[in-house]
This record gives sequence, C-alpha cells and structure tokens, in this order.
Amino acid sequence: MRHGTTPVNPTPPAHCPRYLLPFDMATVRRVETDYLVIGSGNAGLRASMEVSDHGRVIVLSKENPNEGSTRYAQGGIAVVMNQGDRVEFHVQDTLSAGAGLCHPAAVQYMVADGILRVQELLDWGAQFDRDGADLKFGMEGAHRVRRVVHRGDATGEETQNVLVRRALDHPNVEVMEHTLAVDLLTADGVCRGALVTTQDGELIAIIAKATIVAAGGHGQVYGYTSNPAVATGDGIAMSFRAGAAVADMEFVQFHPTTLFLQGAPRFLISEAVRGEGAHLLNSRGERFMSAYDEREELAPRDIVARAILNEMDRTGMPCVYLDITHMSAGFLEERFPNIFETCRQYGLEIDRDAIPVQVAAHFAMGGVRTDMNAHTSVPGLFACGEVACTCAHGANRLASNSLLEGLVFGRRAGISAREYSSDEGASLPDVDALAHAPDVAAHASDASGLRKLLTQRMWEDVGVYRHAETLREALTTLSELPTAIGSGRDAIEYANMRLVGELIARAALERTESRGAHYRDDYPDTDDDRWLRNISLTRREDGGVELTTRNQGLS
Ligand code: FAD
Ligand code: SIN
Repeated sequence: MRHGTTPVNPTPPAHCPRYLLPFDMATVRRVETDYLVIGSGNAGLRASMEVSDHGRVIVLSKENPNEGSTRYAQGGIAVVMNQGDRVEFHVQDTLSAGAGLCHPAAVQYMVADGILRVQELLDWGAQFDRDGADLKFGMEGAHRVRRVVHRGDATGEETQNVLVRRALDHPNVEVMEHTLAVDLLTADGVCRGALVTTQDGELIAIIAKATIVAAGGHGQVYGYTSNPAVATGDGIAMSFRAGAAVADMEFVQFHPTTLFLQGAPRFLISEAVRGEGAHLLNSRGERFMSAYDEREELAPRDIVARAILNEMDRTGMPCVYLDITHMSAGFLEERFPNIFETCRQYGLEIDRDAIPVQVAAHFAMGGVRTDMNAHTSVPGLFACGEVACTCAHGANRLASNSLLEGLVFGRRAGISAREYSSDEGASLPDVDALAHAPDVAAHASDASGLRKLLTQRMWEDVGVYRHAETLREALTTLSELPTAIGSGRDAIEYANMRLVGELIARAALERTESRGAHYRDDYPDTDDDRWLRNISLTRREDGGVELTTRNQGLS
C-alpha cells in the first residue's frame, strides 16, 4: 500500500516503546502455527473459517471465546434483503452518515457482499425474527428503509453462537482462551506472530506465517462506555507499536442512549427502540429532537448525541429520557426482551416509565488502516472488524453496519492471509532472526488509578465536544503518564489505552474542523477544502509519531 502523503504539523509525541515487556527469543517458549487470529468476535471467527481448511489456526481470546462486543450487539445487522430496498440505497445512506470520508468502493463492497454473508449466517442456522417465512426488518437512525435483521435485541448473541459453533469446532482450530496478546513480533518489518501471556501467566511466542488482528474496539478508553471490559484498544495499540499505520482515530462514535441510573452499568438502550417510535424527552418532559434535525429521533447518532448533551446543559440535569410507553408491555417484552428485563431489574417498567439515558463511547470508526483486502501496512499482518479502519464508516458509522463489516472483511482477511501464506516468502521464519526486545522501563504503578485518571481525562477533554485547549491539556496529561508499567493484564491494558487515547487526541487536535462524530467547538464548520482527507499515524523507529494526511479514501 503506497500512496503519496503530505506531512502536516507533526506534534512532538511521548515516547512509544516498541514492546511493552522485556523478552528474549532465545529463552521464551515458542509455539508454531500457520495462522494466528487475535480475537474471537464475529470478525476473527469469520476470518478463521476462511483459513482453517488450509493449515493450523490458533485463535486467541482475552476472556472466554464468547466475550466481546459482538455478543452484546442489540439492534442487528443492516442488510439489503427487504423488498423495495436496494444496494444503492444502503450505499448512499452509509456514505451520507460517513460525512464525506467513507471510501466508496469499500462501502459498495461491504453492502453488496454483506447480503451473501448474512444469507450464509441464515444457512448456518441463525434464527432471526420472522413474520411467517419472511424476515422482519428493524428501523434505525439514518436508514431510509427498514433493513436491520435482528433477533429481538440479542442479535449479537445469536450471531456469535452460530459463528463459534461453525468456526471453533474445526479440527485445525485451537482456541487459547484467557490468553492475552501483548505485542506483535516482527522481523525485518514483517509480522511473524505475537508475544502472548497464557492463562497460567507464561509468556510465549506464537510464530505464525500470517497474523490476523481482530481484537475489537477501544470504548474502555472513555470513562463511560457501552463496551465490554475487553474493549481496551489492544489490537490498535500493538499494531501501531509494530509499525502499522492507524487512521481516522479522531472519529469515535458516542451512542446517544445508554442507561443512566445510579449503580447500573451503561447498558445500551438500542437505537431500534427509537426505530419503534420512542421519543426523547428532556427533564421538563419536552420533546426536543425536532429543534436539531428534521429526522428527529432517527437522525444520525452524532447529531442525537450532541442534542442530548445540549439539552442536559440547558436544563441543568444529568440525563434525558427515552419514552416508549405508547407501546404495550407484551410488544416490548417480545421485541426487546433484554432491555425490558434489564430495566425491570433496576426498577423500571418501560411500558410505564420513561428510561433515563445518557451518551457513552460506543464504536471506533478509526483503527488499523487496511486496504479493501484487509492488508495492513505491515506485511504478514491483516486486520478486520472494529479494530480495522477500512474507511467503510467514514466519519460516522451508520447504525448496524458494524457486524456487517466484521463478516465481510473478516472473510476478506482470511482469504488474504491464505494467499499470503501460500507464497514462498511466507514460510515460517528462522525464529533466531527475530529481534530481542530492548529493555523496557517498567514502572510498578497502580494500573487502576492510572486508568481512572486517563479515562476521565478522555471523557472530559476528548469526548463529544472538543477544543484545541482541552485537547492540548489532555495530551499533556497523557504524556506525563507512564507508557509501560508491568506485565499483568491490567498493566498491559492500561498501556494500550494510554497509547490509543494519545492517538485519538493527536488526530482530534490536528483536524481543525467538525465532521461526523468529531466536533470542535473552536471549528464548528465542516471544511471540505482542507479536510476531505484522512489522518494516518505511524510509529517512527525512534518511538515518535508521524502524522500524515491523504486524500479521502485510503485504498
Ligand atoms: P469483538 O466482538 O469485540 O471481539 C474482540 C475479540 O478480541 C474478543 O474475543 C476479545 O477477547 C479479543 N481480544 C481483545 N484484545 C485482546 C488481546 N490483547 N489478546 C487476545 N484477545 C484479545 N454493531 C452492529 O452492527 N449492530 C448492533 O446491533 C450493534 N450493537 C452493539 C451493542 C453494544 C452494546 C456494543 C458494545 C456494540 C454494538 N455494535 C453493534 C458494534 C459491534 O458489536 C462491534 O463493532 C463488533 O461486534 C466488533 O466485532 P469484532 O469481532 O471486531 O470485536
Ligand atoms: C443499537 O442497537 O443501538 C446499536 C447498533 C449499532 O451500534 O450499530
């Protein structure tokens, strides 16, 4: 992937170490495999299915193989299967939500191939809601028609279960659960696998012909998030340290409606609830969305999220309310069983009570930069799913396009890894050629305290509303925090979150305009003349960060 690049305004970075832990290839235990897949969400599983007939596959999962964002997906999968819908419509809706920064070819491919990928899921036994023989389609924000296939509000669980059965039962596939990938191993700039800590705490080197990173998103970098605990941006951070370019990091999607109750997690209240007619009310009981966008509650997420924060500010209250009380308990319990039951556990009957909601970090549009075939800028390393930046989402993802992206580009990553490893040059490397890690300064510090400081700073200064001054303050704070603090999972996650936070803040400071999910108080307008471009960040050999911009569409 070579493109002309224009360096702009490089800002002095904090030092980014190449490896988080000291290790020596002469002594570390080695495991060899053909394919290494880091992550067992929908993207990683779909990728592993593409390679498992062609060699030994190791799939890593930080917790159990079911745990990850995929499992919690509620609304569903956007796909052109409804009568009257067309590929062009879905493409146009995606491009429009992406606010000028989508790569049109990636969108076209995702939408068209997505139909085959969802059909495949159905053929493998996925039970999505039907009306007789016909699939039911949900409505979500910024879609012009109903096109979201779902299983109640537990679409992710259904998808994950089908893929786990299908992918992990293969005799060539070994799942290493509760195993943490710490860093990618490279030799002469080529990815050769990863350094991981096993369930027993042993540090091992998995040497692979091809490595696919599918480690999900980074929601945990923010103080409030809809994401599960595993979403700490590890895949982005380790790829960046290994020399892979990351792109569009400034674009972080904040979901408008997560549960806001003392003692409750920021449980997602699906956009599909608004798709079924729920209204947003401020604390005075007034509907407000018409003042912000003619699509009202079904405007794109960035618009709804900002409107909610404005209303909270205007009324001086810490949340707004989502009201679906015009629907019967019977309908709600059937259509949204998890939401119905979870709210009930916290004392809310959603057919009678409006639900207190607030915004929370939800999805990473940016990530490890890939071309249309999931190649990263590091040979031997492929990326797919939320960890990747295919540019299919641009500056703001259209609702329910993420599972679709994971299935489509997960498959592509598998195909590319297969092609790569069948090349002669990709035979298992002479492991002695792998570099020994230089000594890494490890500070014994309190990971949870550092994490709290970091995530609060990110929430306050690099959140929905941004400004040069606060972005600089955030960068100063981050640069004062240690870059590596030890070998436990908490310590590794903290180091990854700190690095990802810094990459988001740097890109957000650089983009002197507002577009999609990136809103600058000091630059409230969209500036197409200057900023119809993607920002890429790469680690330099000396540990610094190189920032470049390139014309919209990365492939
Ligand atoms: P994940 O499913 O998050 O899987 C990541 C995997 O990587 C996990 O197995 C994890 O253990 C592993 N991992 C991470 N770090 C490491 C490491 N260091 N070492 C080893 N393993 C590691 N999208 C939609 O399209 N429709 C929806 O309805 C929808 N609803 C959502 C609801 C919620 C609450 C959330 C949080 C997200 C939702 N999304 C939805 C977004 C979508 O679910 C995710 O973007 C998508 O599932 C990501 O899939 P993935 O395979 O890339 O990552
Ligand atoms: C939701 O159900 O609101 C989440 C859908 C998504 O993130 O795409």
